[in-house]
Amino acid sequence: MVGEALARVAVLLSGRGSNFLSLHAAMERGEIPARVVVVVSNKSKAAGLAKAVELGIPAITIPRQRSTSQQHDQRVLEVLRQHSVEWVCLAGYMRLLSPSFVAAFPRRILNIHPSLLPSFPGLEAQRQALQHGVRVSGCTVHLVDEGLDSGPVVVQKAVAIEDDDTESSLAARILDQEHRAYPEALHRLLTQEWAVEGRRIQWRGGYVGRVSGP
Ligand code: GAR
Repeated sequence: MVGEALARVAVLLSGRGSNFLSLHAAMERGEIPARVVVVVSNKSKAAGLAKAVELGIPAITIPRQRSTSQQHDQRVLEVLRQHSVEWVCLAGYMRLLSPSFVAAFPRRILNIHPSLLPSFPGLEAQRQALQHGVRVSGCTVHLVDEGLDSGPVVVQKAVAIEDDDTESSLAARILDQEHRAYPEALHRLLTQEWAVEGRRIQWRGGYVGRVSGP
């Protein structure tokens, strides 16, 4: 990737931050032509923020407090502009973005969700899958639109559900796949030509995968 400009990525998170770390690690290995220039959270105690600080990445809390959703998103947008962000990766960011936020980064916002969308959007996707009795679940990386866990699918990885799975055992196996899916999705979007047609992403040319995963 030497000589290529690195895309400036913001990661928005509300918790643990393992997807942030898997993206960052793939970038550090030179597998994705991008770098995380800022991490933003709505939760000051999010473990992912502390990890960003350890890595020397600007880590900023913007609590919702008494602001409206719109006001909160404007404050986040301001921070992203200050860091000249080009792409936004939601990684366990438990807030729905306002339409003006989505419009500020057209087709440049990604989200990861722990189910095979459009099945089981929203909270506790792994529990929803177990309760429904499906035999296969997984994870989805998708472009963000104004809906909840909707938007064109970029990458999906399937995970078989075992008879003795609990919510936590299933979540752990899905998380392993998330850590592969997110770097792969960002890599594809940054290195391949693509267009959105209807709900589908149409990829032009072949894909030479370079992301090894964790
Ligand atoms: C991940 O499992 C991610 O898919 C999920 O939150 C977790 C965050 O983990 N996101 C959603 O459910 C969004 N609808 P992490 O903080 O370790 O990356």
